[in-house]
Amino acid sequence: MIKFDFNTFVDQLLDKTEYEKLMTKKEEIVNQFNSCDMIGWTENIEEDLIEKIKTTADYVKENFECLVVIGIGGSFLGSYAFESMKRKYFNDDHFEVIYAGTSLSSKYMDELLDYLKDKNFCINVISKSGTTMETTITYTLLKDLLKRKYDEKELIKHIIITTDKEKGLLREEVKEKGYQSFVIPDDIGGRYSFMTPAHLFPLALNHNLDEIVKGYYRGKRLGDYAYQYAVIRNCLFKEGKVVENFCVYDENMQPFTEWLKQLFGETEGKGGVGILPTSNVHTRDLHSLGQFIQEGNKILFETFIKVEESEHYIDYEGKSLHEINNIVENSVMKAHFSGGVPCIEISLQKLDADTIASMIYFFQLAAAYSGLLFGINPFNQPGVEVYKNEVRESLGK
Ligand code: PA5
Repeated sequence: MIKFDFNTFVDQLLDKTEYEKLMTKKEEIVNQFNSCDMIGWTENIEEDLIEKIKTTADYVKENFECLVVIGIGGSFLGSYAFESMKRKYFNDDHFEVIYAGTSLSSKYMDELLDYLKDKNFCINVISKSGTTMETTITYTLLKDLLKRKYDEKELIKHIIITTDKEKGLLREEVKEKGYQSFVIPDDIGGRYSFMTPAHLFPLALNHNLDEIVKGYYRGKRLGDYAYQYAVIRNCLFKEGKVVENFCVYDENMQPFTEWLKQLFGETEGKGGVGILPTSNVHTRDLHSLGQFIQEGNKILFETFIKVEESEHYIDYEGKSLHEINNIVENSVMKAHFSGGVPCIEISLQKLDADTIASMIYFFQLAAAYSGLLFGINPFNQPGVEVYKNEVRESLGK
């Protein structure tokens, strides 16, 4: 279950006239959303595909020591964030899934190649376009490592490609070499692709897909809240609150804030508008950005993601540690609100698969509505091309 508090620490700082005005635009915005051609992620995923994902995950678990997932941006953050929230901090007993391809660090690559050289590993390369530089470089280097160990016939067993149905170099490779593959549908963009094999396949190694799928579509019930959240953000933006600070209370949720940053940043940041997403992990960052938030430039509002129940009971002087964490959360909202910072609260009953998947659907919907309220296309990211073109030119490609 997910609860929303858009009032307690927001209300007095919100322009009610603008809020009412935007709330009356709901039908118009929802109609615009429904006529977008990139909303395949709202439609039910096929049962056969879920079965194929599960079978392929079983194949990987039975035949390999680990899976190396290669992808960047929307082709990795969803499953990485989910995995991080469910993984143990110590003595993790999950099937090993390594996420690579998110930087060009020589140190990381050197150590990764060294780590993998004697391992029996499988690669899942994920790229909708099939042209992303970081993904291509990492894939090529890891494939070279495999090629030094195996002949063509054996190599086929070690590579699974997730890409466009028809287009791109990766799809050509699938056709030419006969690698196993999954499709990222035409009508689903990277950051909205959680309910596709791009994320479900890496997750199937360690998680119950049925729970994830069920929870994700349960998120559809949160449509009204998603619209209200988008409206409040838009009003706050117009009042000069141009930064949204996502606050979480456990280090394991930090990657989820990275997913949020990508979702909102790439969705809204165009045409000279958009709210800049940032994040804090509490209580750590109360001892760093906390000062700025309390007394600095009033350019921001915050969205707190609280987890009500924990499976871990630690007694501290008669209270559970989790209760103390949640008391701190509430106190911080009070303090920041008193300093002129509006604080929205989203409470998850538990951090289980079902709730996480619902929350993902909720945020995807809110980001899309928000983009439409800003009057921009929520589903493209033309700005990212600018750096890519510069790199191509500098590398002479
Ligand atoms: O949200 C998006 O569309 C982007 O962040 C992409 O996912 C990212 O750039 C990776 O692209 P690709 O999957 O084509 O390698």
